[in-house]
Amino acid sequence: MSVNPLAPSWLPHPDDANDLAATVWSKNAARDASGELVIAGVTASELVENYGTPVYVVDEADARSRAIAIRESFDAAFANVGSAAKVYYAGKAFLSIQVARWMLDAGLNIDVCSGGELAVALAAGAEGSRLGFHGNNKSLDEIDRAVGVGIGAIVIDSVIEIERVADAARRHGVVQPVRLRINSGVHASTHEYLATAREDQKFGIPLVDAADVVAQIRSHESLSFLGLHSHIGSQIFESEGFAEAARRLFAVHAELLAGGPVPELNLGGGFGIAYTSVDQALPVEEIATRFAEIVSSGAAALGIPVPVVAIEPGRAIIGPSTTTLYTVGTIKDVLVDSEAVRKYVSIDGGMSDNVRPALYGADYSVRIANRTSSADAALVRIAGKHCESGDIVVHADYLPGDVTPGDVVAIPATGAYCWSLASNYNYLGRPPVIAVRDGAARVIVRRETEADLLGRDTGLES
Ligand SMILES: Cc1ncc(COP(=O)(O)O)c(C=O)c1O
Repeated sequence: MSVNPLAPSWLPHPDDANDLAATVWSKNAARDASGELVIAGVTASELVENYGTPVYVVDEADARSRAIAIRESFDAAFANVGSAAKVYYAGKAFLSIQVARWMLDAGLNIDVCSGGELAVALAAGAEGSRLGFHGNNKSLDEIDRAVGVGIGAIVIDSVIEIERVADAARRHGVVQPVRLRINSGVHASTHEYLATAREDQKFGIPLVDAADVVAQIRSHESLSFLGLHSHIGSQIFESEGFAEAARRLFAVHAELLAGGPVPELNLGGGFGIAYTSVDQALPVEEIATRFAEIVSSGAAALGIPVPVVAIEPGRAIIGPSTTTLYTVGTIKDVLVDSEAVRKYVSIDGGMSDNVRPALYGADYSVRIANRTSSADAALVRIAGKHCESGDIVVHADYLPGDVTPGDVVAIPATGAYCWSLASNYNYLGRPPVIAVRDGAARVIVRRETEADLLGRDTGLES
């Protein structure tokens, strides 16, 4: 085996480039006896034949079971410390009517951050009381609609919003529960976290201003204060960042209790998932136990009751459930220096259906879906079909070296922030989302057609 010098140091040379790492693929993904990828009993070839490529395939039982596991783990962990937990699904990761229903069925609340996301959750039949509303610039119409449907919580993100939400609540004749988003100065990403006195970012208000701002909230009879909110980042694998944010928030939380009730503390989302075989996500039971320890010991140190803790995971619930299938179109062996060849495998989608690698260098893994092969593993780069050289979907992984045009390739863990960040760049229609379960497939979001793409262009009428 000769190692390609272009391989990144983190990427192990695989024993078998057909292997599906259990930590990365959805729970019901496997290969059948012929070597083909099957997801929840539906073969890749059946999916491609019926729905075309690119296509997002969501393993429904996987998504539902992760939602239930998170809720049950947090319920159990917080019951153990004499409190309770509220789990919101962060709809920004991927929201459709069906997905919203799976989350509601699993006993989760849903967190939305725009009028559009609110509309989807309501269309799914969500009661307003099971929704939370976020955002650093909610419009007056969004606030009015949210208050009007009896939304369970609005996360106030700036001082200006206090009056806006209070006014909407007065007009609707209700008392609106609100949280206050704090910029805790803790920022976590993957294996590192950074803690500063203040963070230079658009969300929330600085911790030092919290007492004043909460006093302003409490001065409005049309508002009721639920507690502080913090979200420290995404794709987090360690709990220290959450612990540091909780410590910082707790000091203020305790101070706020002198002026009235503070029943809840919201610690946001951001739990990491495995995108490649080297990523190791924390088991959800461990995250829940750690959160309960952090919060109960923080409360004990201050001599205050353990608050109800709210969390808002998105990626950890929906991310691992989905696999995107693409068809290989062209292949080029590019001689990068005198010895090293990088195999560029171009697919029929790209940054329009998964912008994460181009946007922030995210890594993914890839496998051939329609067959296995005993050919030697070759280092590949999976490139999209868009007019940007940065249009890469997988920077580096190994595939059997006989990968060929017409093969179907599968990229796992594409459930979060792929469809929701999709675009029509180069006038590609956005792919459909197909839910698979117990051997059956159904469309939950249809493919965008050329008619959809032209439908908003009024050029022929003007
Ligand atoms: C306020 C807030 N809550 C929750 C989330 C969900 O994060 P994740 O999907 O990484 O769990 C985000 C993501 O950006 C967020 O901004």
